[in-house]
Amino acid sequence: MAKRVVLAYSGGLDTSVAVRWMIDELGVEVIAMAVDVGQTSDDWDVVRERALAAGARDALVVDAREEFAEEYVAPALAANALYEGRYPLVSALSRPVIVKHLVAAARNEGADAVAHGCTGKGNDQVRFEVSTRALAPDLEVVAPVRGWGMNREESILYAYRHDIPIQATKEKVYSIDDNLWGRAIECGEMEDPWAVPPVGVWSMTKVRASEPRDVIIGFEQGRPVEIDGRRLGMLEVIDTLNDVVGSYGWGRIDMVENRRVGIKSRETYECPASLALILAHKDLESICLERDLEREKARIEPRYAELVYDGLWFSPLKQAFDSFIDSSQEFVTGEVRLHLEPGSCVVTGRRSPHSLYDYELATYDAADRFRHEDSAGFVRLWGLGIETWAARQGSDRAHT
Ligand code: ARG
Repeated sequence: MAKRVVLAYSGGLDTSVAVRWMIDELGVEVIAMAVDVGQTSDDWDVVRERALAAGARDALVVDAREEFAEEYVAPALAANALYEGRYPLVSALSRPVIVKHLVAAARNEGADAVAHGCTGKGNDQVRFEVSTRALAPDLEVVAPVRGWGMNREESILYAYRHDIPIQATKEKVYSIDDNLWGRAIECGEMEDPWAVPPVGVWSMTKVRASEPRDVIIGFEQGRPVEIDGRRLGMLEVIDTLNDVVGSYGWGRIDMVENRRVGIKSRETYECPASLALILAHKDLESICLERDLEREKARIEPRYAELVYDGLWFSPLKQAFDSFIDSSQEFVTGEVRLHLEPGSCVVTGRRSPHSLYDYELATYDAADRFRHEDSAGFVRLWGLGIETWAARQGSDRAHT
């Protein structure tokens, strides 16, 4: 049985109660660790105080925003990673970086276990545990919330009884997870997939702008590096776009998704920066990637997103995909213009020094230098197999 545990601490009800519960029920020492991945949170000092008040031996806060943006979000953007074609993996991407810091803290503090506050029904437990086993197979993983059998009301009572300073009220109905790549909102009345999400659930995408505008995003080798000519780090690009694109009320997703544990769940998301960046990046690839590379990459993208969703960030297949994707990005340098209006964000232009778009090949004007005469033979051979088949089997079969 573990003696010292490092808990992934959010400052919320469940993880605050988990601190005390593990001390009392499992007889362990708890070190709480909060990892800043750009979530809206109380002041980190307040979060630290709360963990200590709940009984933690120590409370650590790590700022992992830059690392998260550069080493987790940037590769996912290069992969245009959208789970089931729609969800940019907000929570799924943050778990591996949190686990990395959890494991490092466990080593530092001489702990023999890590812990998380996930329930047994979600994907996040899968990501925490599989990532931990990849990075530190010797560490035990404790999942107090999964086993303690308390409902929300009972947890609140537990907190009151043990003087744990929580802010939760019985009315809080949504389960929210956010970071710089977006925000996930689930539960409450949205558990009915037919129910319209209440307006109050949206925060990043509340409409604040009305004047249409353009935003030009500059990419270098698949990474966004500039907005409207201003050189920015990955983190600043994301912050800027969350603000600008979000102010047009664009970036909402409402979907029923397939969780790893076999449940279909109704999820709503706000992802202004991530969806705008994927839209722009994919568009830039359309002029920078040679056709076969573009198509093959598009085939592996959904698989990449599934691996990340399913907790396999630290897996050999995902690493191999990263090498492929990385190599595909060598010439993905250029600019994309997005046009914003309330409720809409569309690409209106793209350009690149490596563009494979050749005006003289594409044009119908006088500048045309496409060799029209080559087409006759090419098309004849292209159709030769079909022609032979139709001649043998009878051309009437071809149109039944
Ligand atoms: N369904 C999303 C995912 O699995 C979001 C999960 C959000 N987590 C939460 N604790 N609310 O990635």
